[in-house]
Amino acid sequence: MKEYRPINVEDLPLNAWKAINDNWFIVCAGGKKHHNFMTCSWGAFGTHWDKPTVTLMLRTQRYTRGFVEKREKFSINIMPDTPEMKEIMEYAGTVSGRDEDKAEKTGLSYNRVDKVPSLDQARYVLNCEVIYRSQIEKGNFMDDDLCKEHYPDKDYHYIYIGEIKQAYELV
Ligand SMILES: Cc1cc2nc3c(=O)[nH]c(=O)nc-3n(C[C@H](O)[C@H](O)[C@H](O)COP(=O)(O)O)c2cc1C
Repeated sequence: MKEYRPINVEDLPLNAWKAINDNWFIVCAGGKKHHNFMTCSWGAFGTHWDKPTVTLMLRTQRYTRGFVEKREKFSINIMPDTPEMKEIMEYAGTVSGRDEDKAEKTGLSYNRVDKVPSLDQARYVLNCEVIYRSQIEKGNFMDDDLCKEHYPDKDYHYIYIGEIKQAYELV
């Protein structure tokens, strides 16, 4: 297992837009025995209720979402910005942990800090606790076409706002 050291969220050398839109990130959740990870590129880093937060959008059917629901904790894993990692993240964002062991297939290995699973290969890990969750509702869209475009199967995302309890950087 790799070693992480705590870092203040304000000191994270990240451009939120680049980290989310261009580089993507990996969400990890679960317990000691059963856990999973998936790639995400929708979300936000910010502040809610005076707390540093990460907002996730997870579609109903994601296997990882079940672990977030059960544990009410997850980690955000900021991965190295390399073509090799991009390929791994494509895979982790296409295949479900219900069907394949993604760690075994990719060579990524699990770590566990503060009882939250994360990945050894992450440059930064943000351990979060869910403080709010809700589901996207069709009737709340201002633009019906946006809803139709993104939810032809009505698999509306769940929104999870996680308080960042601790951020870590790889030693
Ligand atoms: C670049 C990229 C970004 C993605 N972003 C999200 C996202 O923000 N929310 C989501 O629900 N799915 C997203 N996905 C799809 C999931 O990662 C994908 O369905 C994955 O296989 C789910 O894994 P799981 O079933 O093991 O949890 C993304 C996929 C890719 C390739």
